[in-house]
Amino acid sequence: MLRSHNCGELRIGDVGESVKLSGWVQISRDFGALTFVDLRDRFGITQLVFNAEDDEALCERARKLGREFVISAIGLVRERSNKNPNRATGDVEIEVKSLEILNASKVPPFTIEDETDGGDDLRMKYRYLDLRRTPVQQNIIFRSKLAIETRKFLASMNFVEVETPVLIKSTPEGARDFVVPSRMNPGQFYALPQSPQTFKQILMVSGLDRYFQIVKCFRDEDLRADRQPEFTQIDCEMSFVTQEDILQTFEGLTKYLFKEMRGIELPDFPRMSYDEAMERYGSDKPDVRFGMEFVNLNKVAKGKDFAVFNDAELVVGINAEGQADNYSNKDIKKLTEWMQRPQIGAKGLVYVKYNTDGSIKSSVGKFYTEDDLKVWLDKFGAKPGDMLLILSGEDEKTRKQLNELRLEMGSRMGLRDPAVFKPLWVVDFPLLEWDEDSERFHAMHHPFTSPKKHDIERMLNGDHETMKALRADAYDLVINGVEIGGGSIRIHDRELQSKNFKLLGFTPEEAEAQFGFLLGAFEYGAPPHGGIAFGFDRLCAVMNGINSIRDFIAFPKNNQGRDMMIDSPSPIADEQMSELFLKSTVPTKEEI
Ligand code: AMO
Repeated sequence: MLRSHNCGELRIGDVGESVKLSGWVQISRDFGALTFVDLRDRFGITQLVFNAEDDEALCERARKLGREFVISAIGLVRERSNKNPNRATGDVEIEVKSLEILNASKVPPFTIEDETDGGDDLRMKYRYLDLRRTPVQQNIIFRSKLAIETRKFLASMNFVEVETPVLIKSTPEGARDFVVPSRMNPGQFYALPQSPQTFKQILMVSGLDRYFQIVKCFRDEDLRADRQPEFTQIDCEMSFVTQEDILQTFEGLTKYLFKEMRGIELPDFPRMSYDEAMERYGSDKPDVRFGMEFVNLNKVAKGKDFAVFNDAELVVGINAEGQADNYSNKDIKKLTEWMQRPQIGAKGLVYVKYNTDGSIKSSVGKFYTEDDLKVWLDKFGAKPGDMLLILSGEDEKTRKQLNELRLEMGSRMGLRDPAVFKPLWVVDFPLLEWDEDSERFHAMHHPFTSPKKHDIERMLNGDHETMKALRADAYDLVINGVEIGGGSIRIHDRELQSKNFKLLGFTPEEAEAQFGFLLGAFEYGAPPHGGIAFGFDRLCAVMNGINSIRDFIAFPKNNQGRDMMIDSPSPIADEQMSELFLKSTVPTKEEI
């Protein structure tokens, strides 16, 4: 036996016991006669004591232990004279009688402590060392428990876990596919699934009735804090259901997970239509932990001498309550520059300060009288001390920009408390979205999403403008401004699905080539069905009030999509290339 106990379990009641512990040396402190070693494993830290007066040779060996050496120690549990209340094992220590060094360690490139001195890149390169740190381990353990609880809940609701293939054919979900060349089929490629969408629908046709899978998905898209090229979904599908059944079931799952994992009882989730979310927050995933809702100023700001507003499709603003005194001219200039960065692209930012002494100051003061500005302030219900921030321009763009400003102001004003959880269902998404660049419709969710029943007739016979107004049985679960999940009721009728492909610009041949299997399946008794997928990594992060999903992935990729530990992606040998019938198009050094 290499241990009788782990490093986190000994308590005062164990005093007098002879024990054997194994683990890593967190730190060794030499006080001459006594040497203290903090021994760490996944479960905690226990203090070992070596007494030179009892055994000088043993103590000498302990003095030589470096950080991260792997050791095994046998000794007696005794009460500590100076207890450490911050540690579960802090009442006891081990008086060591024998020591075995199981493995030595080089000096680690960063400290293996809760607060480390290692930068991101270094920690990713030595991920195995980073994963020894307690906060990182806690996240991975949280993830494991969350998966177990998810399985428990869904199994209790009669869901069947089915594995779907990883080498598939591309499903158009909006991102680029990762592809895998097929050696046995020269010139042909598999695609890694962006999601198991078509397979789970096929499983409904097969009569599985309720499916789930905690599944890896792959999308070749630009990476951000909440996006990884490979990520995990809790993917689900149900037969013979309405949208209401799905919302109820997955609201139930979310409440269950918050209760089990965080001890939090969430109240019923409010619902908001897509149109309302865009109108009030300029986003289809609003953070409703705070108000600061948009106020449309078109009626009151237009028609004066300020051409910028007169020419704009939309003049819209937010009220940063109590901020008038906090923002000097210099601060507002900085905020304006922040809004003008290419990532946001605002042309300018107008402010109206309602000072605490009742006076009003505005960057557009020369175009509007104080009475004009009072009308604006009234529209916001502003009080002395408040500050309006106003943008203008094309409707959709301006709302998006103001959404960024609202979130930024919410963060600056401390209104986005990570310990507060505000879930929201966003419903009634548009079915289609017009893309100016390619001059064609895209599916807002995906091409298998059903229009609302009352819109089917309009979809089959309507004109171009009608198509823009069609609404879908599609929904997103948003928590604290993060899109946690999305889903829809599906089309289960071949004719309607074909019509949808046509609207999306597929020729009948293209639709057949890509989705013939699904259209075919719909001819053999497809039940009405629908589903949803939660971003599992995002759920982990949001439940812990953390922005980056990387913290919850054991081996994440960096922003360039690289795994720094295994150094991937990497070139492959010429032989392997030719076996796969691939020819390199990357220019050689000479060619450059
Ligand atoms: P959707 O594309 O909305 O729906 O994805 C579902 C959820 O997956 C998460 N997600 C991601 N998480 C991390 N990194 C990424 N790159 C990433 N992309 C998406 C989000 C998102 O809400 N097949 C449909 C679901 C359905 O209709 O049932 C689908 O995949 O949290």
